[in-house]
Amino acid sequence: MAKQNAVVTGYGFYAPPRVVTNFDLRAMGVDTSDEWIRSRTGIKERRFAGEGETTSTMSTKAARIALERARLRPQDVELIIVGTCSPDYQFPATACLVQTKLGADHAGAFDVEAACTSFVSGLAIANGMILAGTVRNAVVIGAECLSPFLDFKDRTTCVLFGDGAGAVVLEASNASVGIESSVLHSDGSKGNLLWVEGGGAKMPATKETVAAGKHYIRMDGSATMKLAVKSMADAAEEAIAEAELTADDIDLMIPHQANIRIIDAVVKRLHFPPEKVFINVEKYGNTSAASIPIAIAEAAEAGKLKKGDRLLIAAFGGGFTWGASVLEWWGVPIPDRREKSIVDRAARQLEDLVDRVRPV
Ligand code: ACO
Repeated sequence: MAKQNAVVTGYGFYAPPRVVTNFDLRAMGVDTSDEWIRSRTGIKERRFAGEGETTSTMSTKAARIALERARLRPQDVELIIVGTCSPDYQFPATACLVQTKLGADHAGAFDVEAACTSFVSGLAIANGMILAGTVRNAVVIGAECLSPFLDFKDRTTCVLFGDGAGAVVLEASNASVGIESSVLHSDGSKGNLLWVEGGGAKMPATKETVAAGKHYIRMDGSATMKLAVKSMADAAEEAIAEAELTADDIDLMIPHQANIRIIDAVVKRLHFPPEKVFINVEKYGNTSAASIPIAIAEAAEAGKLKKGDRLLIAAFGGGFTWGASVLEWWGVPIPDRREKSIVDRAARQLEDLVDRVRPV
């Protein structure tokens, strides 16, 4: 059998409809201003999950769109990975909730937690499993419902984050080089510079921990920012070199959308042309694990990613964790699936329609 590579055959994202502008935050009592947030972060607005929306419901919606694009039926999915640091529960894994909501009856499912680097990590795992022949396909999701973890009395963090989900379908194919490199790094000694301290086994929830706000995101912003710039740039260079390419070979870079100043500094450090960088942080804020797959889907929908393009993704997040990957963009169903009969396609569309109206 010819060597199988892992190619992206579908993509999708879901952003909850509740738009929260910088002005809305101020109206909610946050001691901030639109001018401060825009000039320091580039963020104009973010989305917050609505009533009944969680990481698993948003993940499911993004995954359905990605599967529809890949023309892959949920029952043919072999693996579901959800990258998130805001799972619905401690356990079961959010990926298991997505598995059942999708009706992916034959899929294995687990979560990956590497904060903002979770999607890049999940993609590397799925790629490895496809290359090893363990699975033929995987749905890799990056999703976060961070709004419940925001302390609206802490203006240094609550203005930064948002909710949403993005997904890609990865499939075995010999039609493309697929994922050409993946690099992952970490430094756990700096874990407490960006963390949620309470609610785990070390500090279980008590009246006191809740009263002290230990269940909210806390961050040393300037220390995080310095490390984020250097680490993302280094990882991007490493991923390009590992793929035996140069920066000139990259058609589009999608960095983790944390902050426009971090993105600008990374791009400058890499001497990368700004027109080859996709940015949407102004609309969604920092959606952590969801930021790269949301941006991938938006870029592809906007025609900024074409079949054969080389895409570079790079992330940095709590842990600390960071990583990058280079892939040849495919973005369409694998050829044999495209040839399926009209009857097959109609039957699948009907199933999808039923799935869509089924409550998640
Ligand atoms: N509105 C108004 N003023 C504010 C706000 C706000 N929302 N937040 C902070 N300030 C004030 C501070 O109190 C401070 O005032 P002072 O000088 O009187 O003390 C002043 O603004 C400057 O504060 P700094 O923290 O120095 O501001 P800085 O320019 O560093 O920007 C920021 C802060 C935006 C948080 C930046 O440090 C940053 O982006 N850090 C990185 C975040 C990140 O990348 N996270 C990535 C991973 S996320 C994950 O893994 C889940």
